[in-house]
Amino acid sequence: MYRRGGFGQVPLSTVKSYEKLLEANKAWVAEKLGTDPDFFQRLVAQQQPEFLWIGCADSRVPAEEITGTNPGQLFVHRNIANQVIHTDFNMLSVLQYAVEVLKVKHVIVCGHYGCGGVQNAMTNRDLGLINKWLRHIKDVYRIHRTELDAIEDEEQQFRRMVELNTIEQVTNLGETTIVQKAWKETGFPMLHGWVYDLGTGIIDELVTMDSPKSLEPIYQYELD
Ligand code: CO
Repeated sequence: MYRRGGFGQVPLSTVKSYEKLLEANKAWVAEKLGTDPDFFQRLVAQQQPEFLWIGCADSRVPAEEITGTNPGQLFVHRNIANQVIHTDFNMLSVLQYAVEVLKVKHVIVCGHYGCGGVQNAMTNRDLGLINKWLRHIKDVYRIHRTELDAIEDEEQQFRRMVELNTIEQVTNLGETTIVQKAWKETGFPMLHGWVYDLGTGIIDELVTMDSPKSLEPIYQYELD
């Protein structure tokens, strides 16, 4: 349907930029095959990732690259500000498939300092539809307002909010029956809250959870 390089209003430089991606893909295939001729054939057969990664959609936080993982190792879900929202069927479907079918051993929620989603949620700006998404982050701020308001330095407060947002999403995972049923049956997955620093490239661990014990009682389901 589209003629090569014929996108009407799209400047030629833009066309060239995406063509670079396709060229890079061919180079990547050649490189992989050069070191491992069976690389793609092995992946065709099945995927057995050990990890589910729930991260921010931010282009500066590429899950595989910052963890040194290859295709087949991470099952990935990304959205604005790495949210785990209990009515989000996209996230829940990914979670259920990862836990019940792929039987991942670890679920990692990875937030990042400098997260635009978290930053905007801490303002009173009206951003339209995205208000609905950021509303969940405002709730995190409300729950932890005493701690956050006591931090005078704005940058430090923002960093702490990113950490608390990540920890809260780990709690949200633990509050799903998907995770609680798996814990009861297999003892897995272990939940992890990590935070990535855009300025250094370093990931720090914030929290781990592998049982419902630390959850508020009202969120602990009776499972048979
Ligand atoms: Co972000």
